[in-house]
Amino acid sequence: MFVCMCYGITDSQIEKAVREDGIGNMRELKAKLGLGSQCGSCVEMAQDIIDTTIVGESLFKNVG
Ligand code: FES
Repeated sequence: MFVCMCYGITDSQIEKAVREDGIGNMRELKAKLGLGSQCGSCVEMAQDIIDTTIVGESLFKNVG
């Protein structure tokens, strides 16, 4: 699913950036993918994806 139409960035690209590159907030994500620096309408959804991915990651780590 596309989150950022301006840059053609999908939710899985954002999840990957969080998991593999340790992106933890919008500022870092913006610096890495460019997302959010055009119209900005994707920022809220991107932030949600960062948050859910981080929560999912830490749950996984606690189990493992
Ligand atoms: S949809 Fe992401 S900057 Fe426009």
